Amino acid sequence: MKAIIPAAGLGTRFLPATKAVPKEMLLVADRPAIQYVVEEGLASAADEVVIVNSREKHAIEEHFAPNPELVATLRERGKDAYADMVEYVGGLNVTYVYQEEALGLGHAVLCAAEASAGEPFYVLLGDVLVPGNGMLPAMQAVSDAHGGASVIAVMPVPDEEVSRFGVIAGAEVSDGVWKIDALVEKPALEDAPSNLAVFGRYLLTPRVMELLAEVKPGVGGEIQLTDALDALLAEEEMYALVIDPADGFDTGTPASWLATNNILSERL
Ligand code: G1P
Repeated sequence: MKAIIPAAGLGTRFLPATKAVPKEMLLVADRPAIQYVVEEGLASAADEVVIVNSREKHAIEEHFAPNPELVATLRERGKDAYADMVEYVGGLNVTYVYQEEALGLGHAVLCAAEASAGEPFYVLLGDVLVPGNGMLPAMQAVSDAHGGASVIAVMPVPDEEVSRFGVIAGAEVSDGVWKIDALVEKPALEDAPSNLAVFGRYLLTPRVMELLAEVKPGVGGEIQLTDALDALLAEEEMYALVIDPADGFDTGTPASWLATNNILSERL
């Protein structure tokens, strides 16, 4: 089973910092943001992480590539703990596919269709960190309890933030588990069916890849993953699991990135 991490975006909200450095490589506490996400994928049922990269973002691939010269230099200088760190990161099971044009999150996920090999798959968005790595196994348990259905993470957000996210409609069927009736991408507050925002973690059935190939551009002229999931509801059940705000951190804006840094650096 694969964990797909879309990472081909332009990082617009973080310019000028992201002019030369991919947003995914910005430091959060003690490591680049994307390293948390890769580690989370590999700590779950995923045997491999597939990063959907753009051709320009060499730094991401360099980060996860082995670097025996650096390891040797560090060992010669007696810095074995750092050498171990470099070896560990270079040994993580990461592969790449490329999104040639930034046509939206749904399009990015579709770029990994072949890699997902007709199996269920995770999608992990780098804007959201779950450093305890507990959410994906919890989502898998909800899926198992409901015949292998798709499960997405949601978090309650204040009214003024609703229009930044995908939002679900549904009914709570057990503690923190909702059966989804509809999904809307970035609704105006008055059109939002709830305050439960899609929070960057998805466990999806293979049918989603087929639907993504048919989805038309939606909000912002982009191929939206949310629209494919809404279409899936006509054919399959889907559930949402509410993430505890103490476990999940948004880094999608400079302000939330700073706040997350402050919280996670306290834990070092
Ligand atoms: C994406 C998804 C959205 C989700 C959000 C946070 O939006 O399209 O449904 O709520 O991530 O996980 P983006 O932040 O890429 O605009």
